[in-house]
Amino acid sequence: MALKGVSVNIPDVYDTDLFDFTGPKKFDQSTGYRSQSMLVVPMRNHENDVIGVLQLLNATNPITKQVIAFSQDYENLSESLASQAVVSITNAKLIANMTELFEAFVKVMATAIDEKSPVTGGHIRRVADLTLTMAEVIHDLKEGHFKDKTFTPDQMYELRIAAYMHDIGKVTSPVEIVEKAKKLQTIFDRIQYIRLRWAYISQKIILEGQNAKIELLQNGSDPEKLKAIAKQSLDKLEEIKEIEEFIDKCNEPGEFLDDEILVRLKEISELTFIDAEGEQQPYLTEDELTNLSIRRGSITEAERRKMQDHAAVTLKMLKQIPFTKKLRNIPDFAGAHHEFINGKGYPLA
Ligand SMILES: [Fe+2]
Repeated sequence: MALKGVSVNIPDVYDTDLFDFTGPKKFDQSTGYRSQSMLVVPMRNHENDVIGVLQLLNATNPITKQVIAFSQDYENLSESLASQAVVSITNAKLIANMTELFEAFVKVMATAIDEKSPVTGGHIRRVADLTLTMAEVIHDLKEGHFKDKTFTPDQMYELRIAAYMHDIGKVTSPVEIVEKAKKLQTIFDRIQYIRLRWAYISQKIILEGQNAKIELLQNGSDPEKLKAIAKQSLDKLEEIKEIEEFIDKCNEPGEFLDDEILVRLKEISELTFIDAEGEQQPYLTEDELTNLSIRRGSITEAERRKMQDHAAVTLKMLKQIPFTKKLRNIPDFAGAHHEFINGKGYPLA
């Protein structure tokens, strides 16, 4: 009945056949207690759903100490108590749901960032684990600079969420920079490759024609001259091969490029060739030279600045979330994840 939203008031559970009271009777048997009067009131929430019941047992006369039936007043009082209990339970449930929803949102964002860059996949989880480990170590220190620094469970929670959100700004980082594994890697119009192919085919046709001519000449021409021409071609091809290997090496981000290499790159970039349309073209374009001349790593200064933007974007994004009092430091914690203790770092320095 109570589950259906109606209060049940029974003077003696042993003297009714309205309900099955085997449960309380069994309980009485094992404890020696005597269940007599019982009041069960439904707990109805704001959506009118019964989310539980308040069960009261054995009302007692304060003077005679005799067990009596629950009066109508008690029934009314219990019903109002039940509705207050429902409000508390609903509130607690709502807060738990909100926290769960928020944590799920944080994890979804972290997954999106990690998925964006499989090269650094799992980075966010590792940062979160390391941050919490460091905080735990600092918390336990009994001497040294951090001996008085401790973290409450709420502060640890705040730190964990901040760590999970620290790279949220990377959603706006261009994927060609986040994922740039080699110096020349970029998003480009493939027409350049296709043009190179036409140039290659044209050169091949020219070469085949020349070969045929040579064959004809060989029958009557000076063999020494022909040899010299052949050697010249071989030397030139050798040089191109050397340049190709050198550029391949420069394209690798792992090696540090010293001044000598940069000078050689500049020299190569100044060499020219005639393309299929008869136009003079540099061996390396300005942009290729800039990228190949990256001394360390694979990104240029301009790209580095764009990458560093993510910390400022993290701060900007998180400042818009109305965090609760316990979590109010999250934007500053997350936005400062590239700041150094010595005041350098970014974006604030
Ligand atoms: Fe970062």
